[in-house]
Amino acid sequence: MDWGMQNRISKLIKPETGRAVWLAIDHGYFLGAVSKLEKPQETVRPLLGFADALMLTRGVLRNCIDAKTSPPVILRVSGGNSIVGEDLSKEAITTSIKEAVRLNVSACAFSIYVGAKYEHQTLLGLANLINEAQEYGIPVLAVTAVGKELAKRDARYLSLACRIAAELGAQIIKTYYCDDFHKVVEASPVPLVIAGGPKLRTELDALQLASDAVGQGAAGVDMGRNIWQSDNSVAMIQAIRQIVHKNASVSQAEELFNSLKK
Ligand code: R5P
Repeated sequence: MDWGMQNRISKLIKPETGRAVWLAIDHGYFLGAVSKLEKPQETVRPLLGFADALMLTRGVLRNCIDAKTSPPVILRVSGGNSIVGEDLSKEAITTSIKEAVRLNVSACAFSIYVGAKYEHQTLLGLANLINEAQEYGIPVLAVTAVGKELAKRDARYLSLACRIAAELGAQIIKTYYCDDFHKVVEASPVPLVIAGGPKLRTELDALQLASDAVGQGAAGVDMGRNIWQSDNSVAMIQAIRQIVHKNASVSQAEELFNSLKK
């Protein structure tokens, strides 16, 4: 592997554990100002020291994140859709590779919508981004998006989507946890991280999700709402780290969460 590519990936997936805890705050690119992310800088400031990387758009990066103290950046470079638009799968490149280089990102992220109306456009978009990013040693994170069709997220569908992303050359894939998640892991020759999805009922549910995912082979989490929508977000991200990086059990992580929370 090219030195730059290897160096960037090792900033994202910690060589000491082979795992990753990333904080996702890119939701606004199609959802606008979601709850608790109205002022991203205020929400994420206390969390940044606990995140191995931050996933976001260039607009929030440039306006809300201090260049001198930012963790490694995973730049979302796809968009062009909105929650009130025609079809969420109508997504394409929004940010050039030159801009990604200028921002010194550790990876670019692009969503694919396998089985959706604009499947072809998003798969070719991913492939083209990988071709360009490869020139600069920048890894690409493929995100297996489902739009509003959350019920699609089963092992058969996610295995298909992840395998296609890997075949097109994505170095890392972000997907969803599901029953029989190990089958999704087995179908992918590159590391998988999971999204948290909409906020679960309790923090314990989110800790269980992270534990189940890494227990079945995920390289970690790229979690958003289940961290920063928690009233105890700083305790939550530390508890997630215990699971992902220290192989803590859910009850050990819950104990830590309870001891740290306000
Ligand atoms: C999709 O909106 C984004 O890629 C999010 O970054 C992703 O869904 C992870 O965030 P959450 O854990 O809130 O689902």
